[in-house]
Parts: sequence; C-alpha cells; structure tokens
Amino acid sequence: MIAAALAEPDDFEEWRAEARRLAAAGVAPETAAWSDGDGTADLFAAPPPASSMAEPTGREVRANRAFIDLARSVILHSDPVRLGLLYSVLWRLQTQPRLLDDVADPDVVALERLAKQVRRDIHKMRAFVRFRVVADEDGVDRYVAWFEPEHRIERANAEFFVNRFASQRWSILTPRLSLHWDGAALLEGPPATRSDAPTEDGVEELWLGYYRSIFNPARLKVGMMVKEMPRRYWKNLPEAGQIPDLIAGAHRREAAMIATGANLFESEPAPASLAAVAEGITQCRRCPIGCNGTRAVMGEGSSSAVLMIVGEQPGDNEERENRPFIGPAGQLLDRALEETGIERQRAYVTNAVKHFKFTPRGKRRLHQTPTAGEIDICRWWLDGERALIKPKVVLALGASSARGLLGRTPAIGRERGSAIALPDGTTVWLTAHPSYLLRLDGDAREREHDRFAQDLAGLSQLLRAG
Ligand code: URA
Repeated sequence: MIAAALAEPDDFEEWRAEARRLAAAGVAPETAAWSDGDGTADLFAAPPPASSMAEPTGREVRANRAFIDLARSVILHSDPVRLGLLYSVLWRLQTQPRLLDDVADPDVVALERLAKQVRRDIHKMRAFVRFRVVADEDGVDRYVAWFEPEHRIERANAEFFVNRFASQRWSILTPRLSLHWDGAALLEGPPATRSDAPTEDGVEELWLGYYRSIFNPARLKVGMMVKEMPRRYWKNLPEAGQIPDLIAGAHRREAAMIATGANLFESEPAPASLAAVAEGITQCRRCPIGCNGTRAVMGEGSSSAVLMIVGEQPGDNEERENRPFIGPAGQLLDRALEETGIERQRAYVTNAVKHFKFTPRGKRRLHQTPTAGEIDICRWWLDGERALIKPKVVLALGASSARGLLGRTPAIGRERGSAIALPDGTTVWLTAHPSYLLRLDGDAREREHDRFAQDLAGLSQLLRAG
C-alpha cells in the first residue's frame, strides 16, 4: 500500500498535488491508503517507497471544473473516507470524463452527499455563531463566539465573517482552531475550548428579548424549527434555553392574540404623538438593525397628509442627514412625483424600517434588505405613524414597504397599480421601489420608468377622486 497523509486535512491544494502525483505515477485507488495528518507532523507520514510505485506514466492528470468544485467542498468533510473516495473518482475520471453526470453512480452519490453535508454545516455556522462582546486590552470592543462545527469548515467560512463584520474586531473559537479579525488582517490561533469564550455580555438580554419578540406562536411548527435549528447547536445558542418555555406558551399566546386581535409583538399602548414615535424609534432595540449603532430616521411631512409615502428603510445618505428619501432614490421619486403633479411637501414620507441595515465594505456601507421578521417588528412604528396621521392613501414603494403595511410580501408585478384596502379602510397603492429603477439600464430602465410613471398617474387619479 502507498500511504498518503495530509498535513492539513482541509487543504484542497495539498490533496490535489498529492493526488496528481499518485495518479501520474499510476498508483491505483486500491493501493493508496489516504489519511488525515494531525496537523503537526511531516507532510507525508509515510512517503511511498519508490519501489512500490508504478513508473510514472507521463500521462497528464485531468479533472473538470465540476469535480474541482465538488472536491473543494468534500475535502472539508470530517469523514476520513473522503480522501480515498475523491482519489477514486479522480482516477476514474481519467477514462470516464463524464462520470459526474452519472447521478446513480455510487461514488458520485457518495461525493454529492458529503458535499451537501459540508454546505449545510457552512450555512449553519453562518446562522448560529453567536458573538458576545468583550473589551480588548486597548479597551476596544471585540466580539467573541464559540462554535463547534461538524466538519472542517472554519477556514472556508472565514471570508464570509470578514466581509460581514469588516469593521469590527471579532474572534471565532472552535475546538480545531481559532480565527481572529482585527479590522485589517485575519490571524489563525490554536484550538480553543468553550470556557475560553465569554458566556454572556451586556447585549445578551437585548438579543434574548429580540428572540422572544420574533418568536411567532401563530407560525410555530416544532418539527420545522428543529430541522432548521438542529438540537446539536442549541447548547451554544443563548436563545435556545427559552425555546421549551416559548413552545409551551405558544398555543396559549396564539389563542389570546386571536381573541383580542392584538399585535403579535406588542402589548404596550400605541405612541400618542409623532414626537413619541420619533423618541421611540431612537430608543428601539427590538431587532438587530436597531442595535447596529445607526440613528433611526423619522418620517417627515404634513401631519395631516392625505397621502403617506412609505419606502423600505433609510439609506446611507438618509441616515447621515436624518431625513427620508433625500439620496438618489429620493431624487428620482421627487422628479416622478413632480411630473405627475403630486406635491411631496403635502404628503408624509416615511419608511417601513426605521434604521439603516447595511454591510460594511471598506469605507462604504452597502444596503442590505431587511428580513420579513425585521419589517414585522418595525410595523409597530409604521402603524403608529399611520394611526396618528390617518392618511386616506398610502403609496407603498417596493416589496418591503408593502410588507410593512400589509403584513405579507406581495408580488409587485401582479399587484402594482391597484388599490388594496387595509382593514381600517386606508387604501394602499403599490408600485416598484425607485432604487430598483436606478439599478436598471437601457430599455429595461425606460420600460420600468414608464410603468412607475403610470402607477403614479393612477395614484394621482385616485387622490383626485377623493
Ligand atoms: N430608500 C428607501 O426606501 N427609503 C429612503 O428613505 C431612502 C432610500
């Protein structure tokens, strides 16, 4: 047997070089004994004795892109059989270049299964890493998380966290290695234990409160929930400790909500004035967007407006200037309103979500779409504004805005340009979001501008009809 051990068990390039060497030397899969190294030893625990290898065939070892992509995922699996299996498929690809198309081939099935398990683990790490804040020696916040992946996905996932939290310092500790980001460079450290990570912090209560508030008893399906959030992750998820109680209380809460028609998330009295809304959104930390350190942007305009215009969320310009719709999307909206003869100054302009959700990219803050859950939480404030202003018609710009108003996400293409009645008699008029138009070019842009103008013309008619 020829022994081949990887020094770094998740290093695809290392596996590739070794596999290429063995295949070029004519080492058949049955005679190659692959194993993971322990990460400290020599590159190859037992180098193949020259006499035990066939003469190099001189043949070029080929692998198509599909195999390389699959192998890059499979190499991250924790099952040691993956190395030999990959080699076996590589070997067969030399004479069966279309092997991967044979979806019934047992080797191909096995590789696909391993790759799927790795992809799932990558996704779960992104979803279930929970950071807690500690102070670095220089007093700056560092977000530290403990995570136990099933496979060797830490390095492969690092870029995601770097992009997501580029401007913050963070560390992800795992039993195999630790990753540390200081805002500029990613460093790798030794394995950690759970006790190396903080167990709670000052924002934990916020997060737990948020989780309780978005736990919607009316939508509870325990089987689905456990499938999405497998129990093996629960021990490191602070919110999971609440789940048994929340499930136990879910049916009671749902019945009470249906009986009283109560808002799913709130039992407080609605804000009594626009000033109370402005103060409330500034303090609001009910969802992660509210906790991101940006300032909440209040609606503006006439407090007795017949028309209310609702966007998705403030953008970069709006957050800086603390006014809704003043950036490029706002300018496009202003021009379109003017062309239709609708006066913005007589309307009330606001957003479904009050804080700016973004992902940092260098010095820029790139817009991120709020989730349905975040929009649903912020509906409390939008409903508050609507109840105080009492507009007859609300113009919803885009799907997020429509969700904030209707409590569901409509298909804009199907429902735009028609009147939708809310239970309190207010009419919602739906159209596309101006940012969508800004992203288009050429004919598509012209076509969508025309549709937008038509929708606003329909709105103008509706307003004139009283
Ligand atoms: N996009 C929105 O939805 N709202 C704003 O205020 C600005 C851009």
